[in-house]
Amino acid sequence: MFNKLKSISDLIISIVFSIVIWLVLGHYDAFEKLMYFLRTHEEYELDELLLLLMVFGIISIFYIYRRVVEQRVINSQLKKLNETLEQKVKNEIDKRRKQEQMLIQQSKLAAMGEMIGNIAHQWRQPLNALGLVIQNIQFSYSRGELNEENLSRNINKANMLTTNMSNTIDDFRNFFKPDKQKEIFKVYEPIKKAIYLIEATLEKNKIKIETSFENDLEIYGFENEFSQSILNIISNAKDAIIENNISLGEIKIKTFKIEDNIIIEIKDNAGGVKAEIKDKIFEPYFTTKEEGKGMGIGLYMSKTIIENNMDGQINIKDIPNGSCFVIKLSIPNIKNDIR
Ligand SMILES: Nc1ncnc2c1ncn2[C@@H]1O[C@H](COP(=O)(O)OP(=O)(O)OP(=O)(O)O)[C@@H](O)[C@H]1O
Ligand SMILES: [Mg+2]
Repeated sequence: MFNKLKSISDLIISIVFSIVIWLVLGHYDAFEKLMYFLRTHEEYELDELLLLLMVFGIISIFYIYRRVVEQRVINSQLKKLNETLEQKVKNEIDKRRKQEQMLIQQSKLAAMGEMIGNIAHQWRQPLNALGLVIQNIQFSYSRGELNEENLSRNINKANMLTTNMSNTIDDFRNFFKPDKQKEIFKVYEPIKKAIYLIEATLEKNKIKIETSFENDLEIYGFENEFSQSILNIISNAKDAIIENNISLGEIKIKTFKIEDNIIIEIKDNAGGVKAEIKDKIFEPYFTTKEEGKGMGIGLYMSKTIIENNMDGQINIKDIPNGSCFVIKLSIPNIKNDIR
């Protein structure tokens, strides 16, 4: 639009300018002289109107030339401006990307810190159990009861514990990878595994553990992760029983089916969770334990595994003398769950 206006104004200016020059030439007889000159040279047969057109043409060409030069200057200025703008945008994008990468790196470091804490948490139990196995061997030896059978039983147990510790690292590594492999497994297997890991500590503190598993119930998810989430709950029950000096400590685990759901109940007789902290216990870093005894991530981890990774639910309810953790999972749909 602006360019169009400019070319029309250029044309008007050219016409006006040509008429002015034509008039000036006429006024000073220069025009007459020019006509005379041209007429005396026979090859030119020009009349006044043609001359006006010539003058107009020359001036127009001059104007057009000026406009082209002007436009070129403007274009090159615009190009430069575009280039600097492009560079500025590129610099800004680069700066943003670097900031994003820094943030990702920071969150990775934070996650790694958390992961190390989690591994330490999951290792505490098997490490204790390993200590007890070693003590057992020493005890049997000192009483002269260390026979081949006794030794191999203890070594087997120690091997299982160290394998489990190594698996824990893999499980946690997988925990941070989005491309984890889910599978269908029998619900009692990871529960048994968790019990096995904590058995020694339970025995030491005279805590009885009772299980009742409805046969052949299967769930879909990450077996080791699930085992860890159960271990966290049993471990808490054990801690509460010890802390509250319950002389006949008891933990009862039951699995059963209601409609399309599998229910896992973990009950204890440790006295229950106080009402004022009940809605906080699943939060990360919430603990009532003294420093070094608890980080407050056990239940948070269990909740994350069950709710985020297995589409389940975990809740706590009061029972006489203690608490009951209820895990609700759906029965796997073979067609949908295994792709
Ligand atoms: N069975 C239970 N009976 C009584 N209190 C419990 C029970 N389970 C959990 N709690 C309470 O919930 C809090 C949070 O538990 P959580 O497992 O998340 O952390 P923690 O056991 O304190 O530390 P961590 O598990 O990291 O070692 C505990 O500190 C405890 O006060
Ligand atoms: Mg805990």
